[in-house]
Amino acid sequence: MNLRVINPAFIEAMQRRGIDINKASPDDMRSYVCGQCHGEYYFEPESKKAVFPWDKGMLPEQMYAYYQEKPAGFDQDWLHPDSQAKMLKAQHPEFETWSGGVHGKSGVSCADCHMPYMRKQGQKYTSHWVTSPMRLTKESCMPCHTQSEAWLLDRVKTIQNNAWQLQRAAGQTVARAHEVIGKAGAVTKANQAELDKARELVRKAQWFWDIVAAENSMGFHNPDQVLNTLGRSIDMAHQAIATANRAAGTSF
Ligand code: HEC
Ligand code: HEC
Ligand code: HEC
Repeated sequence: MNLRVINPAFIEAMQRRGIDINKASPDDMRSYVCGQCHGEYYFEPESKKAVFPWDKGMLPEQMYAYYQEKPAGFDQDWLHPDSQAKMLKAQHPEFETWSGGVHGKSGVSCADCHMPYMRKQGQKYTSHWVTSPMRLTKESCMPCHTQSEAWLLDRVKTIQNNAWQLQRAAGQTVARAHEVIGKAGAVTKANQAELDKARELVRKAQWFWDIVAAENSMGFHNPDQVLNTLGRSIDMAHQAIATANRAAGTSF
C-alpha cells in the first residue's frame, strides 16, 4: 500500500535538484505521486526522452532560463506562422505552481485537497474521486479551515475570476504581438536584429501566459504568483509590439 513514484523523468529531475525520492516522507509522497504527471516537460530531440525543466528552479522565469540554454539541442516546440517566433508549449504545471503557493509552502499536499479523508459507517478512507475539491469542500478544505463552505467557495471564485481577467488580457496582447511582428516582418527595409528581439520578447510573453493558461486551477494553486506572471506577460507583449514597430518604422 506504500505510495510509489515510477516516472524516471520525475525521479531524475528531483535528483538533479538534490532531492532523493527514495528518502521522501509519506507527506511529500502525497504530492510527488501527482507531480510525476502534473508537471511541465519536454522531449529531448535525439533520445525522445521526457525531461522536466527544473534544474534552475520551478518559477516561470527559471524554467524559461533553462529552455534558453537549448538543453540537448531543444530549441522550440513549434514555429509561429505569423511572427516566425520559436515557441514553447507549456504542459499542465500544477506541481510547479502549487509548490510556491501558500498551501505548497505550508506542506498541504495535492492529496489533502483532491483525495480527502472520507467516513462511511465508521470507516475512514481516502476518496479516489480525484476531481475539483469544490465538489467535496467540507472534506477537502474544512479539516483545516474554520470558515464556512460559502466563504471558501467565494474565495476560490474570486481568485479564479481575477486570474481569468488577466489571463484573457495577456492572451489577447500576445496574439496582437504575433500579428504586429508578422506585419513588421513584411516591410522590406525592417531591421532584422530588432525584429529578432521582438520575436524573443513574444516567445517569452507567451510562455508566461501559457504557464498559467495550461495550469488547471485557474490561479487557485498560487494566486499572487499567477497574477505576477500574467502582468509580466502583458508587459512583455507590449514591449514586443513596440520593438517590432521600431524595427520597421511602423505603427501597427
Ligand atoms: C499517470 C499520470 C497521472 C497521475 C499519477 C495523476 N494524474 Fe491527475 N490526471 C492525469 C490526466 C492525463 C488527467 C486528464 C484526464 C482527462 O482529461 O480525462 C488528469 C486529471 C486530473 C484532474 C481533473 C479531473 C476532473 O475532474 O476532470 C485532477 C483534479 C487530477 N488529475 C489530480 C491528480 C492528483 C491530485 C493526483 C495525485 C494524487 C493525480 N492527479 C495523479 C494524469 C495523472
Ligand atoms: C489547498 C487545496 C489544493 C491543493 C493542495 C491542490 N489543489 Fe488542485 N485544485 C484546488 C482547487 C480549489 C482547484 C479549482 C477547482 C475548481 O475550479 O473547481 C484545483 C484544481 C486542480 C485541477 C483542475 C481540476 C478540474 O476539475 O479541472 C487539477 C488537475 C489540480 N488541481 C491538480 C493538483 C495537483 C497535481 C496538486 C499538487 C501538486 C494540487 N492540485 C494541489 C485545490 C488544491
Ligand atoms: C491541510 C490543511 C489545509 C487544507 C486541506 C486546505 N488549506 Fe487552505 N490554507 C492552509 C494554510 C496553512 C494556509 C496558510 C494561511 C493560514 O495559516 O491560514 C491556507 C490558506 C488558504 C487561503 C488563503 C490563500 C492565500 O493565498 O493567501 C485560502 C483562500 C485557502 N487556504 C482556501 C482553501 C480551500 C478552498 C481549500 C480546499 C479546497 C483549502 N484551503 C484546503 C491549510 C489548508
